[in-house]
Formats: sequence, structure tokens, C-alpha cells
Amino acid sequence: MQTIRTVGSMQRAARAWRRTDRRIGFVPTMGYLHDGHMSLVREARRLVGPQGIVVVSIYVNPTQFAPTEDLAKYPRDLRRDYSLCRTEGVDAVFLPSDAAMYPGKAEGRYSTYVVEERLTQGMEGASRPTHFRGVTTVVAKLFNCVLPDVAVFGAKDWQQAAVITRMTTDLDFPLKVVVAKTRREKDGLAMSSRNAYLSTEERAQATVLRRALDAVKRAVAKNPVPAVEMTQAVARLIATRPAARLDYVAFFDAKTLEPVAMVTRGTRMALAVRLGKTRLIDNDRL
Ligand code: PAF
Repeated sequence: MQTIRTVGSMQRAARAWRRTDRRIGFVPTMGYLHDGHMSLVREARRLVGPQGIVVVSIYVNPTQFAPTEDLAKYPRDLRRDYSLCRTEGVDAVFLPSDAAMYPGKAEGRYSTYVVEERLTQGMEGASRPTHFRGVTTVVAKLFNCVLPDVAVFGAKDWQQAAVITRMTTDLDFPLKVVVAKTRREKDGLAMSSRNAYLSTEERAQATVLRRALDAVKRAVAKNPVPAVEMTQAVARLIATRPAARLDYVAFFDAKTLEPVAMVTRGTRMALAVRLGKTRLIDNDRL
């Protein structure tokens, strides 16, 4: 397994692989890998085949964190990440520094960002106003470094996947974006690097996200229910867990992310909940 640290060497490696007709599958991550990430790696391998190349990037992207957020405390364990990547047969890890990704930023010279204007307005975009500008910028840059044929993102970050799919189409990136299923712990909690922040008590209460999704799924299984009613029901359910604070719950069209007035089977539901200082998100098709 190769480690590649600079933009130039990443692009040279990618061009060399392309010259020999090897397809490149790409999984962008911020590290602290878990089985959710590994399932994306397995999907990338499936898509490019045994002769293809699977690249994982590990980069905690500062531009997607607000000054009030957890950038400095974001969990890191590079040794473990490497061991997981090796076990899963990853061919190359792209491990750029901040200076490699944002040249001149420390000196105030970096000034180009990528902004998606529509799908970023609600949900995570409303709660974290600068977040998606950082995500689209870094993902566009990573695409230009890794030159992938296919990039795999997790469905847990549904809005992120929709925004990146839109950006890929709008900016003519010559690659396919694939969205892979959310991996869950046995009790239904979606796998996330941020789960590591939870205390034992918060971890126990974190199952309320999955419970909320299941409760709404049951409630709308037979008849549509107004979104306002479902929002109140979710707020009540979250309030039964003392450590949990509902940030938002949204009912929307899976593709356009437009909110719906009536929640029916097939509507997408997303929610963000704070447990102590940790903010978790989840979503599902109802
Ligand atoms: O989902 C993530 O881990 C990040 O937002 C991503 C896509 C790697 C960009 O930094």
C-alpha cells in the first residue's frame, strides 16, 4: 500500500494508473476509520474490479469546520486507519497536509472555493452555514488530485452525497458518484467517527435517532401524515432522553431535498441530535 502526500505525486500516480487502463475507485475520508468507511472501500473495490486501484484519502478538512466546531478535537488514529486500509486491500492512501491542500492559505493567499447554491440551503447547511462550502471545495480538489472513475460516499450524510452528486454533474467532473448504504451498530446507531466522543450514558441514549426514524416509518406506513405532526412527534420522542437535544428533523424529497408538507412512504427523513457536546445525524427512506 502506497502513501502519497503531495498533489503532484497523487496526480502523477493517477495518470500512470490510467495509462494502463486501471480504473480508479476513490473513498474520501477524514480518517478515524470504522466499518462504515470500510464498506465504502469494499464498494469501491467491487466497482473497479480486482485490477483496479482503490484510493482512500485521509484528510481532516479545516474549511468544513466552523470556528466553534470540533476541528482540533476531531479524533485521529492514523496507525489504526492504515491497518484497516491494508486489511481491506487499499492500494494507496492519499495523506495531504493543509499546506498541500490549501497552498498559501496560512499566508492569506488562498481564495478559491466551490459553492453549491440550492441543495445546501436546508438541514446541515442551515445548522452549519459554512460547512458545505468547505466540503464541496475539498472534494472538488480531491477529485482533481485522485482523478477517479468512481467515488463512493456514505448515505449517512445524505445531503452531502446529494450536494456532491450535483457538483459533479454541474462542474463536469468525469466520474460517477456512488452512494453506499449506511452501516449500523447492532442497536441501530449509524456508524460515525463522532460516536467515539459519546460517554457510556450518551451512547445508550443515542439509539433514539434510529428509534425516531422507525417510529415515523411505522406512523406513515399506511396513511400520509402532515410533516408538522411528525415533527412534533419526533421532538417529543427525543425529549424522552435527558441527554438528547433535537437540532432539526426534516422530511424531504430524496433527490431535490425539497421539504414535503405530507410525509408518506418513500419520503426521506433526516435528523440531527446533540448528545452532550456531540452532534449526530442520521436519515432513512420512510
Ligand atoms: O464525509 C466526510 O468524511 C467529509 O465530509 C469528506 C467527504 C471526506 C470531505 O472532507
